[in-house]
Amino acid sequence: MKILCVVGARPNFMKMAPILKEMKKYPDLNPILLHTGQHYDDVMSRVFFVDLGLPRPDIYLGIGGGSHAEQTARIMLEFDKILLAEKPDSILVVGDVNSTLACSLVAAKSGIKIAHVEAGLRSGDRTMPEEINRILTDALSDLLLIPSLDARENLLKEGIPDYKIHFVGNVMVDCLRQHQQKATESTILKTLDLESKSYVLLTLHRPSNVDDISSFKSILDALCIIQKKLPIIFPVHPRTRQKLAESSLQNDIARCPNIRFTSPLGYLDFLNLMMNARLVLTDSGGIQEETTALSVPCLTLRNNTERPITIWEGTNVLVGTETQKIIEESLQILNNSHHASSCCPQFWDGLASERIVSILRKQESFEKNNILVNA
Ligand code: UD1
Repeated sequence: MKILCVVGARPNFMKMAPILKEMKKYPDLNPILLHTGQHYDDVMSRVFFVDLGLPRPDIYLGIGGGSHAEQTARIMLEFDKILLAEKPDSILVVGDVNSTLACSLVAAKSGIKIAHVEAGLRSGDRTMPEEINRILTDALSDLLLIPSLDARENLLKEGIPDYKIHFVGNVMVDCLRQHQQKATESTILKTLDLESKSYVLLTLHRPSNVDDISSFKSILDALCIIQKKLPIIFPVHPRTRQKLAESSLQNDIARCPNIRFTSPLGYLDFLNLMMNARLVLTDSGGIQEETTALSVPCLTLRNNTERPITIWEGTNVLVGTETQKIIEESLQILNNSHHASSCCPQFWDGLASERIVSILRKQESFEKNNILVNA
């Protein structure tokens, strides 16, 4: 069974790594790794291949940056050629980035089966590009592999038949557990001259937070107060760096010397920083899950989340972007009144990739024997 496994942007790599590793155990599977090149530079892409032991992509499309329309369209044009040449039995896509949707659209129109890992997550906020990508990818997919049971409810509400939905658990947690030991060997704390539990870790790149200068300023005002209590380590995403360079916010930040900028970090260094952080502030999706898996307190700088299970059964709290609220919630944790919950939601057990591969292989044998899949 030839499966074209698609990655494109940073959050895809840690989802695909454990699945590929699992697939390699079965000679009846022939996974082909395709990287669209949506993320292309060393710090956003190459370092993850090294840290996660991902094989060199079999196919690289070299798409690069651009508007959503440009990026999506370029991926579609190139991916179409690849499908014609490779004729895979199915494609496997992960997450909610532009590459996920672009490749799914092309595969669906070519009559090639699509398996979507991390299906069914919904923020309910259609102004997020990722929400559009999620809804459309799920509508096109044949196998919807969900990380938590709330995702099933979301999919059923959208009219997706139950037989297509499979509860497999969270593949990001597989990756985290597989690399946690190795991450403890990272020297990042020493490099940054930090002690465990004596800093706050921050990531910020959502367009709604960094492209909108008033939201960005509101968050920065809070950070300037919080950094008086503990240093804030801020690996800066290229989008955020660009927005800062274009705005006058740089002057605001210059007044807050305990906000410490770094380049985007590799997987192992960042995992080490998360494990040792006193508090994580983020607008990322994946980091909400990773902090829950690590039982590290997380405040999410958004008004909604597609991962509510990290609030119900994890360490996540939604705080939005209002200055005062961010300060209050942060200080409450830093002043020690927060109790981290125990881990983890159902099937966040490091075995999601085993379940995924087992389902893919079963589908294959059903189809070979001409039995109606999942009937
Ligand atoms: C994308 C994903 C988002 C994910 C994020 C993680 C979509 C819609 N969004 O957003 O879900 O959380 O990746 O990083 O797919 N850039 C570089 N080097 C790179 C990649 C990007 O400098 O290797 C620059 C681009 O040129 C652009 C900016 O960063 O100026 C944004 O990149 P882009 O891929 O458009 O979207 P992200 O904001 O990274």
